Amino acid sequence: MRLLLIGPPGSGKGTQAIVIAKHFGIRHISSGELLRQHITDQTAVGRAAAEYVARGDLVPDGLVMDILRKPVEAASKEGGYVLDGFPRTVGQAESAYLIAKDLGARVQVALYLDVPHDELLARMMRRGHTDGRSDDKEDVMHHRIEVFEELTTPLLDYYARREILVRVDGARPVEEVSAAAIAELEKIRPTLT
Ligand code: AP5
Repeated sequence: MRLLLIGPPGSGKGTQAIVIAKHFGIRHISSGELLRQHITDQTAVGRAAAEYVARGDLVPDGLVMDILRKPVEAASKEGGYVLDGFPRTVGQAESAYLIAKDLGARVQVALYLDVPHDELLARMMRRGHTDGRSDDKEDVMHHRIEVFEELTTPLLDYYARREILVRVDGARPVEEVSAAAIAELEKIRPTLT
């Protein structure tokens, strides 16, 4: 299965991607985690991406595509992937489609985690206190949500038009969201080509 998760910051993409990847025996690839690792390692990509991540802005497409190309291609050959945090814009989705279609790596399902703003902020606040992620500061959190609303929500129409969008209510306890997501994915699994 080749799946991507769409959801605002704090909606549970990373949390659910781990469960879904384990259930379907596919690889979890997180654009945010890969970027944070590059920043920690101070690679050229990390140095170029750091300011954008700190501000809560999207990192330029070229950098993101560069770090994802190899893992996505490799995962596609090994049963599939759950991609968490990419694409973030219709432009990224279109570029990725052009690259992926010839490699047999194109997305089959897009799963949207729907969570209201108040709950997103509460989750990120809690994490900011425990994990100290540098972009979990109040002004940056608000900006990340605005960026999602403006640049990422058009993806919902994009995938709905391709009839591969599944919506799940993500404002429930983690286990309930996982069960609902897996049930929806199991329903459509036999129809995937
Ligand atoms: P990224 O790492 O993708 O962060 P994000 O989208 O802001 O999402 P989060 O990691 O905050 O939340 P999540 O939805 O994964 O939820 P999680 O499971 O962690 O991106 C970071 C930055 O990298 C971006 O701002 C951008 O700069 C850059 N970037 C990344 N991809 C890019 C791209 N494609 N193009 C350009 N730039 C890109 O859960 C959040 C918290 O809530 C956790 O503490 C968790 O334990 C808790 N939680 C989860 N589910 C529940 C639940 N059901 N109930 C209660 N608590 C829950």
